[in-house]
This record gives sequence, C-alpha cells and structure tokens, in this order.
Amino acid sequence: MIGISSIYWREAWKYGMRAWRYCQHDCGHAIAAVSYAAAALGWQSRLVLWAADDVVAGLLGLDRDADFASAEAEAPDVLLWVGNPDSPPELARLLDASRAASWHGRANALSREHVRWPDIDSIHHATCKTDTPEQLLPEPLSSQLPAAADPALDLSFAQIARQRRSAVDFDGVTHISAAAFFAMLECLLPRSHAPPWNALPTTVRVHPALMVHRVDDLDAGLYILLRDPVQLADIRQSMRSEWLWQKVGPAHLPLYFLLPYDLRDAAKLICCHQAIGADSCFALGMLADFDAALNEPWCYRRLFWECGMLGHALYLEAEAAGVRATGIGCYFDDEMHGLLGIDGHAWQSLYHFTMGGAVDDARLSTLPPYAFQP
Ligand SMILES: Cc1cc2nc3c(=O)[nH]c(=O)nc-3n(C[C@H](O)[C@H](O)[C@H](O)COP(=O)(O)O)c2cc1C
Repeated sequence: MIGISSIYWREAWKYGMRAWRYCQHDCGHAIAAVSYAAAALGWQSRLVLWAADDVVAGLLGLDRDADFASAEAEAPDVLLWVGNPDSPPELARLLDASRAASWHGRANALSREHVRWPDIDSIHHATCKTDTPEQLLPEPLSSQLPAAADPALDLSFAQIARQRRSAVDFDGVTHISAAAFFAMLECLLPRSHAPPWNALPTTVRVHPALMVHRVDDLDAGLYILLRDPVQLADIRQSMRSEWLWQKVGPAHLPLYFLLPYDLRDAAKLICCHQAIGADSCFALGMLADFDAALNEPWCYRRLFWECGMLGHALYLEAEAAGVRATGIGCYFDDEMHGLLGIDGHAWQSLYHFTMGGAVDDARLSTLPPYAFQP
C-alpha cells in the first residue's frame, strides 16, 4: 500500500492560496504515476477510497505531533492499494499494528518563516474525509471499450516515464496527425483494468474541453471529449445552445466538434496569458461535475485528483507521440466558462493542459534519471 500526503507549505511559499489545489493536482499525478508503474510490473492498483483521513494519517504517522514539533504540517491525501483488487487490505488491523509500532525519525522544518494563508486551512477543514461505507461509493466502471490504438512511437514505458518533462515553450508550428490526437484521447477513456483508470474505477466526473490549434485534417476550434457519453444531455444543456455537437473521430470515441474558430488568443488568455496556451497543438480545460463536491465536500479533492490523473496520462501520451505537454495550474476559470457558455456552477474547469512541439531552454540542463545507480 502506498500513502500520499501533502505539505501545503511546499507550494504555498510560492503560489499562495493556489497551493491547496496544486497539491490536489499533484496527488492525482502521483496516483497515476504509481498506477502506470504498477501496471508496467503486471500489477493492478486501486485507491482505498473508503479510508477516512484520520486512518490515512494514522497509517502514515502524520498524526504524531511530537515527531513534527515545529515542522510544517503534513496533510493525509489518500492510500493506493497495489495488488489483487478483490482482496483489499484490512485497515483496522493495519492501524492497530502501526499504533503499536516503534516509529523512527522526525520531520524537519522547511522554512524559518511562514506566511499564513487562512483560506488553505479553511478548505482543508471543509473537505476533510470521514469513513465512507463501501456501499456509498460510486458504482465501478463497466466500460466495453476496445483496446486503445498504438501510439506513434514504439518506446518502452520506462523510456517514456523517464524522459517525461514539462515543456517550457512551444514552437508554434508543430502539427500532430489526427490519428495521434485521437489515440491520445482514447487513453483518457475509463478502462477499468488499464492504468491509470484502474486506480479510480468509479463514475467519471471530468471531461476535457479542447481548443484545437494544430491537428492535421481537423478544423481548428472547440471540441469536447465526453469520457462518459451518458452525461451528454446534462453537459449539453449547461453549455451554449448554439454549439454544433458534431461527432468526429473513431466511432467509440465520444469526441464532439462544437465551434470552428481560431482559439489561439483565447487559449493564451485563459492560460493566464501564458504563450504555451496558443503555441501548442491544442490546449484544454477539464470540466468537472461540481455537484459531486457540493453534495459531498471531500469529493472536491477527488475531482482534482481525477484532473491530475488526466494530466498525467496526457504527459505520457505526449512523449509517446514525439511531442511534449505542460500542466497549466494558472488559468482563468471564468474566461473558460465564458467561452463554453457555462453560467451555472454545475460544471467547473479545475485544471488546464497544453501540448505541442517543445522548444528547449538552453539554460536548463537535464541529467539522466537514475544516473547515480551503478
Ligand atoms: C498541477 C501543475 C500545474 C502546473 N502549472 C503550470 C503553469 O501554469 N505554467 C507552466 O509553465 N508550468 C506549469 N506546470 C509545470 C511545472 O512547472 C513542472 O511540472 C515542474 O516545474 C516540474 O517539471 P517537470 O514536469 O519537467 O518534471 C504545472 C505542473 C503541474 C503538475
């Protein structure tokens, strides 16, 4: 079992109040990274969604105040079970064992001084998770999808995982083929035994809305991928009524063309004026089912995790297609909602992403991963 936790201060020193949501995005990326790595070894992985935060904290030793003393607090995020998904761990027994165990080590303080962000404490408390009885968890997925198409390049998983980096700049000219684009999107569909979705085999809550700039044989403009086509009527009536809703791509890919338009300026603006929104092959916002969080506040975290997992799949798919991606945590959600014609709260954009032909920054050097190993 793998536990994931966040030290909000690690992000807050730089990003202020946005730190909380970036920690949730990062948690989603970490879930996906573990799920892919486990799959590469032939193992299944699954989130232990029924565990309360107190249980996660107890198992990870995060509630041991004396061990943290003056160090920054560490918030429990989630447990990830790697193994046979049909025989999950008995948490109560593990917790008893960890309470009786001898713990070693003490947390070190990261900074001498801190800036307080009371809103981070507020959202942390508002989204705390208690035990969730298993019968209240959403139904597992039962997708009947064909296997995803092969990516453009024939690289090993290890190669892709180790070479993955974020693009800091795009060239503004690289195009990808429509086949490569569709193959990437296919990997975002929830297959209950394929990574990373085997880790979160429950109701789909996030759908990417795409601003396509440079995909061969595809009109530039606005598209949406409905990762669960059953939600079409709901999402459609939340958006501008003029959209085309024209189905494109392979039959089993629920991708819809909404508006032909050059959205490069809009994408740049939405990405907080970052040029990587416009110079990419495409940029996207992740529309999340906000009612889930309004009904059950801890699910706000889960929505961000799903977004992070989508982002991680895109990071790896980009490398497999010979291009590069970047997560966009800095974006204007109201601008994105304005573009889509969303005016209620039912669907909210919780993470953005962009992908294209990367321009390396010569000032940065990259060392080979695991170079320290003999
Ligand atoms: C949640 C998240 C949000 C990010 N937001 C931005 C962003 O708004 N702009 C940007 O240029 N990079 C962004 N990045 C990329 C990070 O700067 C990058 O992941 C980090 O510097 C580590 O580099 P690496 O991805 O190459 O390992 C984001 C990454 C993540 C995971």
